[in-house]
Amino acid sequence: MDSTSVYAFPFSQFIFLILLVTLQSSVLLPATSDTGFSIEEATVHDLQLAFQRNQLSSRKLVEFYLKRIESLNPVLRGVLEVNPDALSQADKADQERKTKPRGPFSALHGIPILLKDNIATKDKLNTTAGSYALLGSVVPRDAGVVTRLRKAGAIILGKATLSEWSHYRAKNAPNGWSARGGQGKNPYTGGDPRGSSSGSAISVATNMVTVSLGTETDGSILCPSDSNSVVGIKPTVGLTSRAGVVPISPRQDTVGPICRTVSDAAHVLETIAGFDINDEATFEASKYVPKGGYAQFLRKDGLRGKRLGLVRAFFARNEAFLQYTFRNLRNRGAILVDNLEIDNINEICNGLSRDIALKIEFKQALNAYLQDLVDSPVRSLADVIAFNKKHLKLEKIDEYGQDIMLEAQKTSGIGKQLNEALLNMTRLSKNGFEKLMRSNKLDAVVTPFSSFSSILAIGGYPGVIVPAGYDEEGEPFGICFGGLKGSEPKLIEIAYSFEQANKIRKPPSLFFL
Ligand SMILES: *[C@@H]1O[C@H](CO)[C@@H](O)[C@H](O)[C@H]1NC(C)=O
Ligand SMILES: *[C@@H]1O[C@H](CO)[C@@H](O)[C@H](O)[C@H]1NC(C)=O
Repeated sequence: MDSTSVYAFPFSQFIFLILLVTLQSSVLLPATSDTGFSIEEATVHDLQLAFQRNQLSSRKLVEFYLKRIESLNPVLRGVLEVNPDALSQADKADQERKTKPRGPFSALHGIPILLKDNIATKDKLNTTAGSYALLGSVVPRDAGVVTRLRKAGAIILGKATLSEWSHYRAKNAPNGWSARGGQGKNPYTGGDPRGSSSGSAISVATNMVTVSLGTETDGSILCPSDSNSVVGIKPTVGLTSRAGVVPISPRQDTVGPICRTVSDAAHVLETIAGFDINDEATFEASKYVPKGGYAQFLRKDGLRGKRLGLVRAFFARNEAFLQYTFRNLRNRGAILVDNLEIDNINEICNGLSRDIALKIEFKQALNAYLQDLVDSPVRSLADVIAFNKKHLKLEKIDEYGQDIMLEAQKTSGIGKQLNEALLNMTRLSKNGFEKLMRSNKLDAVVTPFSSFSSILAIGGYPGVIVPAGYDEEGEPFGICFGGLKGSEPKLIEIAYSFEQANKIRKPPSLFFL
């Protein structure tokens, strides 16, 4: 090392530090409105109070997020498109509040929400599942959940990035990557955001929006929530409408909130749950929607007397965390039922029947979605595959391929194989998770991380994940509560009680910016 570099080194570090401090203070200092209200980390409840007290308007709130997206999103890539009408929707909400100061307004009135890019909006935003193949497609109507959001007065802030096609194109494609959205980044590590609802999790974690929606077929809400230190609710299949959502499987797909707090997630779930004429499954599942909504289950003592099952097979790592968590749950009055086993766990987790069924269902459901569009560059899975082949570079087909789509295209619809796979999964769920829950009279099963997602997926069961800590590298992890169909009220009680007792989530430092 020569002498110049010895001197140069600390100097360049000094410059770097100054740059860092300048960048961080311009981007990351808590944003305070003229009236002293801090928007960053504010909950839906905080924001509604600030509206009422005239400390904040929806316009100010949207302007804050737009600025933040402008500065953070080029690196984080959580947001795919911003709604050109967001500010006028904010003005409308502000106007409504002025003319009717006492409401009554929904909890999401005037609150900005970001939608995973597979959820259709009939407005200036595109709905593409992250793929250029769907750019320019015209949807027939808003997705069922979007209709409910608009009716509640929520502001559609934009579309969130995702793993392209909800990670149902190529096994090799990275989590959080899509051709249109680029590579989403985990704001805590700078690395893998997990997926497929990656952008929804990244964006709420970094205060680029108040709340968001993701979708899950197997893990796509629970995984990114786990890794980005946010709360995810994966609802019972059919509790929320999937109409107007680019599908994988009507049997497993579900739309749910990804938010910073359990209470925000409960408010969002309350807004989007319920019957929709365009999704048959909501007819049956709407019986699970509780009278008076989900917010009533935000009870600090929600863990008291709850029977929680521990299935040790899912607890391979992080013993210290587990001991801490178990103590914590017991201290709040939960009864832990330990050392449980799920019959046929290996058969469930190898995913054989699931994968057979998903491929068949995907082809049928995607073809139906594409045919229902008013206009579209692609009208079938075959068209999508051909589009991808034609745009090797654009869609990185030369790099990641499209093996899952090719396998799905080879399937030939409903038949003996699908029936057998479905019967297998019904059997596995009945003799596995359901038997475990009923024979031990459990309210929920507790598992670390998103490890339980496949069990919940094949039976259409709900799960709620809450931030539970950060490992030595600063990578977040969550704790997941899973239950029987329609058990969202219990899961919200449990999750809220755990969250309030611990208050573990902290916003990311974004050290890598
Ligand atoms: C939708 O896609 C079109 C075509 O690329 C683009 O011009 C338009 O700006 C997009 N809409 C939004 C809201 O970004
Ligand atoms: C159903 O399960 C059996 C084992 O119990 C397995 O041999 C068979 O391959 C499965 N069928 C399908 C279609 O997944």
